[in-house]
Amino acid sequence: MSGELIRIENLSKSFGNKEVLKNVNLQFNRGEIFALIGPSGVGKTTLLRILNFLETPSGGRLSFNGIQLNGIQKTDARRRMSMLFQAPAVFNDSVFNNVAYGLRIRGADKDTLEKKVRNALAIVGLEGKERQRAMTLSGGEAQRMAFARAIVYDPDILLLDEPTANLDPANAAKVEEIIKRIRDERGTTIVIATHNIYQVKRIADRVGILLNGELIEVNSRDRIFTVPKDARSAAFLKGEMIY
Ligand SMILES: Nc1ncnc2c1ncn2[C@@H]1O[C@H](COP(=O)(O)OP(=O)(O)OP(=O)(O)O)[C@@H](O)[C@H]1O
Ligand SMILES: [Mg+2]
Repeated sequence: MSGELIRIENLSKSFGNKEVLKNVNLQFNRGEIFALIGPSGVGKTTLLRILNFLETPSGGRLSFNGIQLNGIQKTDARRRMSMLFQAPAVFNDSVFNNVAYGLRIRGADKDTLEKKVRNALAIVGLEGKERQRAMTLSGGEAQRMAFARAIVYDPDILLLDEPTANLDPANAAKVEEIIKRIRDERGTTIVIATHNIYQVKRIADRVGILLNGELIEVNSRDRIFTVPKDARSAAFLKGEMIY
């Protein structure tokens, strides 16, 4: 199924008197990889946290599947979403139990649990590591384990906050492959905050650029690199912007 999955209207967010996001309007389509880029501190993580209901917006509306979200619908929408954080937490437990977490809280039975955890670990290339203590994984493996934990219950939307920022190029390339595979095989809608312009070129379908709290441009990946609508986008994408 294609078409719009999430709609963000007139969204704003302030912390104290600092306005981090101003009047953001944006929608995400089913099965797309959407890259959210912009200088450090511009509000990318904040926007992802609002989408995942970890942060309350100061103003504006969020709709999911055409339904405006409030109260009970938030819980329902949240169960279909997943977020991989900039610095993912590792529970002091086995890899299996770390990955199984989201399924357990959703009440999955033992067979489903077994099957889905193995499948998620296979996707991220960690098969056979079920029994290893998660704390003993390498940094790259820990990040891929966190990825498996985020996709194990097959969310409709996957929010990724700089998932490759702390990885070496080989592990980063693996994670990019995983991102594309999840979208291609499961049709998951993926929103990724990233600093890496090359990564945007490699994996994004559409791109949104945040600058000083405003979404200055949303465009297809191909157009934003060749014929951007805003001169500031061109400057940012060429790395000419000082920040
Ligand atoms: N809970 C909070 N209380 C006060 N200020 C906050 C809070 N959370 C975020 N901020 C501020 O909001 C701004 C946006 O932060 P955010 O983490 O969204 O930026 P970002 O675009 O993800 O940056 P980076 O690329 O460095 O990860 C920053 O100035 C940050 O200090
Ligand atoms: Mg951030």
